[in-house]
Amino acid sequence: MIDKNIKEEIEKLVRELNYHCYRYYVLDSPVISDEEYDRMYFHLKELEDKYHYVLPDSPTQRVGAPPLDKFEKVKHSEPMLSLDNAFSYEDLIEFDRRAKRLLKSEKDIEYTVEPKYDGLAIELTYVDGLLSTASTRGDGYEGEDVTQNIKTIKSVPLKIMDVPHIPEIIDIRGEVYMDIADFELLNKEREKKGEQLFANPRNAAAGSVRQLDPNITATRKLHLACYGIGSVKGVDFNSQSEFMEWLKSARFPVPAFFNKATGIKTVINTIKEMEDKRHSLPFETDGAVVKINSFKLQKELGIKTREPRWAIAYKFPAHQGITKIIDIQGSVGRTGVITPFAIFEPVKIGGVTVSRSTLHNWDEMERKDIRIGDTVVVERAGDVIPHVIAVIKDKRTGKEKPFPIPSHCPVCGSKVVREEGEVAVRCIGLNCPAQVQEKIIHFASRGALDIEGLGEKNVELFYSKGLVHNFVDIFKLKKEDLLKLPRFAEKSAQNLINAIEKAKHTTLARFLYALGILHVGEYASKLLAKNFHNLEDLFHVKTERILKIKQIGEKIAESVSEFFNDPKNIQTLNELKSLGLVITNPDFEGIESVKKPLSGLTFVITGTLPKPRNEVEELIEQLGGHAASSVSKNTSYLIAGKEPGSKLQKAQSLGIKIISYDEFLGIIDSHQKKSKK
Ligand code: IVH
Repeated sequence: MIDKNIKEEIEKLVRELNYHCYRYYVLDSPVISDEEYDRMYFHLKELEDKYHYVLPDSPTQRVGAPPLDKFEKVKHSEPMLSLDNAFSYEDLIEFDRRAKRLLKSEKDIEYTVEPKYDGLAIELTYVDGLLSTASTRGDGYEGEDVTQNIKTIKSVPLKIMDVPHIPEIIDIRGEVYMDIADFELLNKEREKKGEQLFANPRNAAAGSVRQLDPNITATRKLHLACYGIGSVKGVDFNSQSEFMEWLKSARFPVPAFFNKATGIKTVINTIKEMEDKRHSLPFETDGAVVKINSFKLQKELGIKTREPRWAIAYKFPAHQGITKIIDIQGSVGRTGVITPFAIFEPVKIGGVTVSRSTLHNWDEMERKDIRIGDTVVVERAGDVIPHVIAVIKDKRTGKEKPFPIPSHCPVCGSKVVREEGEVAVRCIGLNCPAQVQEKIIHFASRGALDIEGLGEKNVELFYSKGLVHNFVDIFKLKKEDLLKLPRFAEKSAQNLINAIEKAKHTTLARFLYALGILHVGEYASKLLAKNFHNLEDLFHVKTERILKIKQIGEKIAESVSEFFNDPKNIQTLNELKSLGLVITNPDFEGIESVKKPLSGLTFVITGTLPKPRNEVEELIEQLGGHAASSVSKNTSYLIAGKEPGSKLQKAQSLGIKIISYDEFLGIIDSHQKKSKK
């Protein structure tokens, strides 16, 4: 039995951590420092591990779920509807007129006005106050179970709090979205990792939620805004505004603004105010959602096929411009990914001159059927980088040329491949100058070896002069070589040599990141450093070995293994070391506990064993197990020696496995063999 005091301590920690999480992620006004939060979190984790007492709403339950093979289907108890659009104030006035006509009333209607979030609609089902399922909208009737992924979003409450009555069941709907700045950072990071870019924050949010590995979702900065209700049992609401108030007090994140407006004229004024504010918002919004406030009136109006007659989405006119695509070209990144981009006749859109934009990938380009010579609509939505939203087909003359996937790299002429099931198109040229230069730039970049002065321009210069063609060459650079170049004088040359010298002392995490292994970003590099003592431990590593790191999935594991099994790479690494590179690993945690033979097992000892009891207990702990003093349903094994005590009966009554000391040694042995395989 777990001590009452411990139980209470765990419960208190969960309560407090959840409150601080809410202050931080929902209210955006933390009252304790991050360090204090972490300290409490790790203390809770320790207690949970030790006493096997884990509450369903414990913050530790947000992370660490294993990747799925596929998503299960979930039926929505009430269909998730879509919205009709209004493109002008006139459309809104017409919407109001129709509602009044159907309600047979002349009276001004009370509406609510909320921003329209551009993300992914999600339904959260709470049973007896606890989050039980989170699902995507899917076709409106049936979506996918993304519970583990949604749990990683810190603003999603795991438990309904602070309301007088906890409903037996409630479906809460909202939008998962990503802030513009986080979307751009994510794309930058993906570009560095050689992954295809997301076209907009919505795709990034959707891609992050529809991810089989929740550990990846956990690294994405996602937010939630709740705005709707599905089926509910045990609490009554009269109106949208009442429901929103309830959501707020129950700690749910709600839209950035929420206004009541009586009469359609007031609605229009509210929308105008919103439009002024929209560009100062951190997220993208392309309109406002107008809903009739009263649930009674909503019911009366009902649904027209898939859209309610009581709500409409007003779309803001976007900053758009029309221009012509002069050319489409491919740019080659560090990992060989070729990204198509368009060059425009320069056009001013919302005060900014736009002359080029990425076309993201060939799937996007083909879907929109974008060709060289096309007249296109370019949009700058919010602060997002401009993008082509549509081709004006009427303007086609017949001379437009598609830009098919090149068969050869535009920079080095090597073959181009597209891996099955991948959007990315890659140049496979080992010595492709574009790739090599990008690799070197990445190697020297801030999060990597941080060599000041070895940026894009100098890498290009050194490359073209034949001075630096790979990582090794960097460390062979001499001051005399630099002084021969137009851009360098005594001081600047010495500075660069010093920076290179300094970079020779680095950490394993930085170094792994610097190598630019496909799919391995800063986060994965850190995980590898936590688990592998030194660089040599990674040489010839097998995929399965890396997969033992919980947060690493197959794609990364395979890529790392492939890298460290390539003799040429090993040779390069050895050369770097012989040039004086010193790699320390302060991140190493040796969390080999995942692989420790007794991890996850709890043992209790009774009677006299051939060895002193404390020695056996120490051995258990050393091998990753837990030695408890009393039997409970969480006990994995009772080790029974001579003259066992009352624990034996207790274990028998609970159906716990009872073993001898020799059998215990056998367990260690068999687990050790298993983990060596
Ligand atoms: S209400 C019938 N409110 O827009 C009610 N939806 O185009 C339907 N959306 O599927 C949802 N912000 O994914 C509502 N404040 C908001 C919204 C919103 C974004 C999304 C939602 C919906 C889609 C319809």
